[in-house]
Amino acid sequence: ISRRTLLKSSAIAASAYGAELALPSVGRALAGAPKELIAYEGNALLTGETATGGMMSYRLGTAGEGAPPVLRMRKGEEFSARLVNRLKEPTTVHWHGLRIANAMDGVPEMTQPYVYPGDTFDYRFTPPDAGTFWYHPHCNTLTQMGRGLTGVIVVEDPADPVFDAEIVLNLRDFRLGGDGQFIAPFKPRDAARSGTFGTVRTTNWRAAPAYDAPAGGLVRVRIAATDVTRVYRLALEGGAGKVIALDGNPLQAPIPLDLQDVGPGQRLDFVLRMPDTEGEIATLTNVKGSTPWTVASFRAVGASAGRSLEDVGPLPANPIPVADLKAAEIIPMDFTATAEHGAKESICGSLGYTFWAINRVAWPGDTADGVAPLAELKRGRSYIFRVANRTPHTHPVHLHGMSFHIVASNQPRLIGHATDTILLQPDETADLALVADNPGAWMLHCHIIEHQKTGMSSYVTVT
Ligand code: C2O
Ligand code: CU
Repeated sequence: ISRRTLLKSSAIAASAYGAELALPSVGRALAGAPKELIAYEGNALLTGETATGGMMSYRLGTAGEGAPPVLRMRKGEEFSARLVNRLKEPTTVHWHGLRIANAMDGVPEMTQPYVYPGDTFDYRFTPPDAGTFWYHPHCNTLTQMGRGLTGVIVVEDPADPVFDAEIVLNLRDFRLGGDGQFIAPFKPRDAARSGTFGTVRTTNWRAAPAYDAPAGGLVRVRIAATDVTRVYRLALEGGAGKVIALDGNPLQAPIPLDLQDVGPGQRLDFVLRMPDTEGEIATLTNVKGSTPWTVASFRAVGASAGRSLEDVGPLPANPIPVADLKAAEIIPMDFTATAEHGAKESICGSLGYTFWAINRVAWPGDTADGVAPLAELKRGRSYIFRVANRTPHTHPVHLHGMSFHIVASNQPRLIGHATDTILLQPDETADLALVADNPGAWMLHCHIIEHQKTGMSSYVTVT
């Protein structure tokens, strides 16, 4: 079976009109009912017809096999779900980008116990920010995420502008051989460089899916890069659009789509203005790398809604505290390669190598195995993390539990917006300003999972 038949492009109608989603989703309709978020191994998740052994996914309650559901939450409203582990190994759920209590952050040993096979863990929290976020395990992550455990979270704000449709795109690769079976999740040689790429590129677990959307309408396209390695740069053909949010947080002024790379862990909210004529197609393309390829396409349906991109005002702001830059303490963090070798075994899987370090400490793993924190922050104080990439590779540096503003860089980049993940360019030094307002121990790591798990990982504490 060739990869082509395995992943043959399927046209999933996102419903012609109205806010239909590209993926099954759960939300307020189920609020109040106990939700079980089941992590399980499945076989037929890439297509309905061809088995790919060893896939992993999440499903809600009795839902059937498929890609992980989009979890819908509301800003300021409590969300709860019981993780049920039906895998053959321990797992947890981390809610990437949500500024929630430390005990809900999903890092085994550090914020909660391992959830062993057959066990459950109850997550309950209130998302303070609206936007596009995502969820994934924090144990044996290269394997668990690599095999499919990466889902998108949409946090709605009642004050959000109304769009004619909304489409969620979860972008990621799978590392399969020609027979459709998983192959080794990484190559050490690549882990020591920019990371090991997957062999099958997907959007919502399909190759170049096509969606229907209202002609002349405004579509909110929520894009999450959940791959363990790949950095995207997206471009649009056959339609107009603008980026209104990065990593969940609204932009003060919209930017063009192809201005910004989107690295592992990052999100981008894009307003697509559909072509006016029925049957016309707008195409989202990845232009990073030598050969552009189609990420998704959108076919205009019906008579033109005649909407204008100008109709879309800024999204409501998220209540992210702004650091006092004059009073802020500067904390240098150097991201380097390291010559250290060997890595200790861990319940959450060790890759067996050490290639990277933060401030010269290499910490291979998903958890905090007894290493001192990178910094001990005082609650309520302002800090600047001066992150310096002293390598020739990009590193998407992610902080748990708190968002920061990118306030300076020695390289051209968009400045001033709030995020939880900065895609640090080769030789870049950037200042990340934050108020340490969330008590607990918070991971800080590269989101190229091979880098994270071969040393480029640490944590900060807030007391
Ligand atoms: Cu997406 Cu440590 O997280
Ligand atoms: Cu990295």
